[in-house]
Amino acid sequence: MSVSDRYSIRMEQLCYSIGGRKILEDFDFCLERSVNHTILGVSGAGKTTILKLLLGLLDPDSGRVFLGDLCITGLPESRFIEPRKRIAIVFQGGALFDSMTVGENVGYRLFEENRLSAREIQSVVTEKLSFVGVEAALNLYPSELSGGMKKRVAIARALAADPDYIFFDEPTTGLDPIGVYNICNLMQRLQAEGKTTLMVTHDLNTAFATSQRFTFLHQARMLFEGNEVQLKASSIPEVRDFLQPTESSLFV
Ligand SMILES: Nc1ncnc2c1ncn2[C@@H]1O[C@H](COP(=O)(O)OP(=O)(O)OP(=O)(O)O)[C@@H](O)[C@H]1O
Ligand SMILES: [Mg+2]
Repeated sequence: MSVSDRYSIRMEQLCYSIGGRKILEDFDFCLERSVNHTILGVSGAGKTTILKLLLGLLDPDSGRVFLGDLCITGLPESRFIEPRKRIAIVFQGGALFDSMTVGENVGYRLFEENRLSAREIQSVVTEKLSFVGVEAALNLYPSELSGGMKKRVAIARALAADPDYIFFDEPTTGLDPIGVYNICNLMQRLQAEGKTTLMVTHDLNTAFATSQRFTFLHQARMLFEGNEVQLKASSIPEVRDFLQPTESSLFV
């Protein structure tokens, strides 16, 4: 096994609260290279928060986050720029810059890095847009795109930096069935190219279509972790309820 295969992104015994409310408590999580993973949980459970903590965008109250061998907790951002470059995130809603064209959005990070010539950046932008099937939108602004196109442009932007890991924050929410199918297909093609995906979602079909490992977050705790067969066979009431809500799950 090479060093690169052993590289993992993980959190250990992580606690995080907002305004005195516990969002995560003693949370352990490990994303292994080449094991595509989905974190499931109801709306507001803390899924986006987990992604932000893994990227070092938020500081935990206690516990540690590792990118490979490096513990980034407590480090200034300048000390983990390199390992974080291996990870890209497609934010919930896309988070495109409204004042930039699609092409400028996708090439933004490369322009900032100032490593490649304008011509080389143009070629990366075209290649990534064509990978996600929206090359015709190159000169349009985000406000001129449908929700599904925005998500695909956001994926192209994440791919521009050629990451090993891609985090997807609810990539299928709000899309029609064809849009959902497109995103699933894109994720599978990225995985076939050697990218490892981590998705947070409550969309079970997309989770099963794209992931080998599942974590279930419930009331700040990790209630389940395992593969699809184990998840579907779980006897944990909250997991069963999430997979197949019944009348007893109705809000009283
Ligand atoms: N900046 C903030 N200030 C106050 N509360 C916050 C803030 N950010 C998140 N929260 C709260 O923390 C909890 C977890 O938020 P988070 O966005 O991680 O949930 P989520 O699982 O991603 O939800 P969703 O599925 O709706 O995207 C939520 O209950 C939210 O209300
Ligand atoms: Mg969220």
